[in-house]
Amino acid sequence: MANPSPAPKTYRVKSFGCQMNVYDGERMAELLGSQGIAPAPEGEEADLVVLNTCHIREKAAEKVYSDIGRIVKDWGRDDGSSPLIAVAGCVAQAEGEEIMARAPAVKMVVGPQAYHRLPEMIAEATAGRRAVDTDMPAQAKFDALPARRKVGPSAFLTVQEGCDKFCTYCVVPYTRGAEISRPFSAIVDEAKKLIEAGARELTLIGQNVNAWEGEDGKGRAVGLDGLIRHLAEDPDLARIRYTTSHPNDMTEGLIAAHGEVAKLMPFLHLPVQSGSNRILKAMNRSHTAESYLEILERVRAARGDIALSGDFIVGFPGETEEDFAQTLSLVQSVGYAQCFSFKYSPRPGTPAATMDHQIAPDVMDERLQRLQAALNASQHAFNAASVGKRCAVLVERKGRHAGQWLGKSPWLQSVHFEGAADIGDLVEVELVAAGPNSLSGRLVGG
Ligand code: 5AD
Ligand code: SF4
Repeated sequence: MANPSPAPKTYRVKSFGCQMNVYDGERMAELLGSQGIAPAPEGEEADLVVLNTCHIREKAAEKVYSDIGRIVKDWGRDDGSSPLIAVAGCVAQAEGEEIMARAPAVKMVVGPQAYHRLPEMIAEATAGRRAVDTDMPAQAKFDALPARRKVGPSAFLTVQEGCDKFCTYCVVPYTRGAEISRPFSAIVDEAKKLIEAGARELTLIGQNVNAWEGEDGKGRAVGLDGLIRHLAEDPDLARIRYTTSHPNDMTEGLIAAHGEVAKLMPFLHLPVQSGSNRILKAMNRSHTAESYLEILERVRAARGDIALSGDFIVGFPGETEEDFAQTLSLVQSVGYAQCFSFKYSPRPGTPAATMDHQIAPDVMDERLQRLQAALNASQHAFNAASVGKRCAVLVERKGRHAGQWLGKSPWLQSVHFEGAADIGDLVEVELVAAGPNSLSGRLVGG
């Protein structure tokens, strides 16, 4: 048994992953705050460090070990005390025991469905006992967490977790478990609290957010579109977004909502991964390039100005130059507003990791470069085509220069402008110039 440590007075939570990981990080911070532990001041070491990890690609997963090493090395308090290190997130879920064995400095390992138990684990750890909790109880977490407090103008709200799709490259179904929808009333309650705490925009998040299903207040079965329509009735909520979606769960109702619910922003993140049907089949995506494009057609018919986004993987086992050319051609035909693209990373326990014809790293590098050049050009073209438009911008923070503000357009572009505004305002802006990653605007009437 290790020596007991003093109870932590300060914490730092570092999140490394997707929006859901960031959301979990915020909720852990709130939980620690409710226990009287304060955020460590900028530049100072914390008594308790929570590494909220991501397991989706090898690089992200390995980062946890280098971070632990750095914390241990940098820790030089005069009194000889050492920080409490907790590993949370999907690496904790997948490799809990291995972390405990490999990194003696880690005192707590807590999975994404168990972090509401952090206070008890901290008590264990300060008593000198190492604690692991990677249980996956459905729902217990949300009931046990403290209420949301102050939030920024744009807030995440988890509505769904887990995934049943089993794409052959992906660890999510193993680390996050089966698809679970949070109940309608719990989501509506949390939305109210977030809005009271200052949110004007809510992004509903889930690994497969459009697979969300529930029962509304009148006991009727509803899908994500029903939830969105209900939330849109709150006069204090200005904007709604959702992410991440699977093509197979893009229902008629959800597509129609894009045309009918003004508060639902004209933006859709719909990963496709590859433009080759052969590769999509090997990925177990259960859609084709054509069926994906057909969905986008229908979304565009509902909402003409929709901005599209996606995820791509290059170098999936067996991907030929011809397969990759089909991905490039899909990118050309969609005209994405933004995208994420990754090199395939074999994940232990997934079917693709043991497939034949793994692709050489230099081939992957070269394909990723070509794909990113195409995606950057597409994003730049989308931004350039926005110049001259007037739109509402939700002000999220101060810009880098004095008097400058930074906010988001309806199409999720970052827009900076100068003039009389404040954080949380929805202001009308004319977009006057486009860069690759942001636009500059002029306050209308300012
Ligand atoms: N290798 C590379 N990228 C992956 N993704 C998921 N698993 C892997 C993997 N093993 C990507 C997919 C997914 C996004 C969240 O991460 O593009 O949509
Ligand atoms: Fe992973 Fe596929 Fe599920 Fe997305 S849909 S989380 S890529 S298994």
